Amino acid sequence: MPGPWSSPVCLTVIWFLSWSLAPSCAQNGNDEVSGLQYGHLKSNVTLECGKSPIRTPVVWHLNHSSELPWHQVTSDGSLILLQTDLSAQGDYSCYDHQGLLLHSVRLRLGYPPGPLSISCRVPSHVHVRCSWADSADTYLPGKYTASYGSKNQDEDRWRPCVVDASGKHCDIDLPGYWEVLHVFRVTETNALGSNTTLTSIKFNNLLKPDPPESVVVKTVEGHSTRLQVYWSPPSSWPQAIAFPLTFHIRYKPQGSSYWSELFTEDNMLTIYDALAGHVHQVEVRARDAIDEGTQWSDWSSPAFGQPWEDESRLEPTEEVLPEDVFPSEMFPIFTKPETSTARSHNPAYEDEGSVGLVILLVLFSVVVIVCTVVSLVFVMWVKQRRRNQANKQELTSMVKMKSMPI
Ligand SMILES: *[C@@H]1O[C@H](CO)[C@@H](O)[C@H](O)[C@H]1NC(C)=O
Ligand SMILES: *[C@@H]1O[C@H](CO)[C@@H](O)[C@H](O)[C@H]1NC(C)=O
Ligand SMILES: *[C@@H]1O[C@H](CO)[C@@H](O)[C@H](O)[C@H]1NC(C)=O
Repeated sequence: MPGPWSSPVCLTVIWFLSWSLAPSCAQNGNDEVSGLQYGHLKSNVTLECGKSPIRTPVVWHLNHSSELPWHQVTSDGSLILLQTDLSAQGDYSCYDHQGLLLHSVRLRLGYPPGPLSISCRVPSHVHVRCSWADSADTYLPGKYTASYGSKNQDEDRWRPCVVDASGKHCDIDLPGYWEVLHVFRVTETNALGSNTTLTSIKFNNLLKPDPPESVVVKTVEGHSTRLQVYWSPPSSWPQAIAFPLTFHIRYKPQGSSYWSELFTEDNMLTIYDALAGHVHQVEVRARDAIDEGTQWSDWSSPAFGQPWEDESRLEPTEEVLPEDVFPSEMFPIFTKPETSTARSHNPAYEDEGSVGLVILLVLFSVVVIVCTVVSLVFVMWVKQRRRNQANKQELTSMVKMKSMPI
């Protein structure tokens, strides 16, 4: 169809414009990249310079530089990157001999997904969390879907495990069928392929509560060897009578390496054999009370407390170093770190001790001076009094003598 655009003058103008604009286009940023292509690392990757065959010789640039990784250019203008590694990623542009941009593409390299390593955590009877990790880095973003069912079940009836936004784990609520062996399945998909990993899990073998919380150690008024320990069950554990927990308590005087142990199903207990006058470290862990095939939780964070002491019997000036006070026949072995922590406390004690000593000395000398002065004054006063009395006696005796008839 003949029209204004097909006239030779117009064609010449268009050709001239595109020729003069081409170099500035080539210097533009990433926004000129028109496509995204994925390639396998450690293999040959082919990038095409446009859909239709191009006769003229072409020039390829990577990130606007003419330096390219190991490559070949075929007769139709395609670029073959040989044995690619990660440094071959970037924005590729293909120009004709006049510098006109023909095609641009961003290349990302990686591997298709391989098998995943999967682990599941069961912090309570009503919740399972399964996480996974690539056994080898794919260098590419992946999408995950997860589901679970029993081995003999039709796969259509498997239930989904809801994958978290991070794509690294999924959660199952109320799994049910406790004694059944479950099969858990995760499929990873990325731009280069997909792969499915299956694993068998027995939920009850994995049941491991979170550690107990808010462990508190309290004194018992009037008892120098008792301590009361309180804690809360893990907040992830259902607060229902149907799922009782058993608790394992361990305690020791700080600095000792020997734990004493107690068990209970309550949320508190009393220690009757604490070492008087010592700070004790107490930790608690939990396990399902009914199924002994399940696992103990990790230990709670340690709580500390010291038994009650009779304040009235304590003499405030008697500062004793903690090392001296430890009956060594009771705790013969100290591990190195514990000894060093004990030692690191000593300077503080020594400082306090010497300051106290100086104050005592000063007080003592003041008292001595005051006493001396007071006793001197007293002695002088007594002497004076005696002298006065002697004078009086002399006078009276003289008066008596005068009144005596001679
Ligand atoms: C990549 O291309 C080179 C040269 O064409 C060839 O020798 C080599 O076998 C190719 N490698 C692979 C993995 O295809
Ligand atoms: C090209 O740029 C990309 C970022 O857009 C960068 O990751 C890559 O390393 C660059 N490649 C080279 C060879 O400079
Ligand atoms: C999954 O990964 C394994 C190990 O890399 C591989 O042998 C297998 O072919 C992959 N499966 C699929 C469907 O790609």
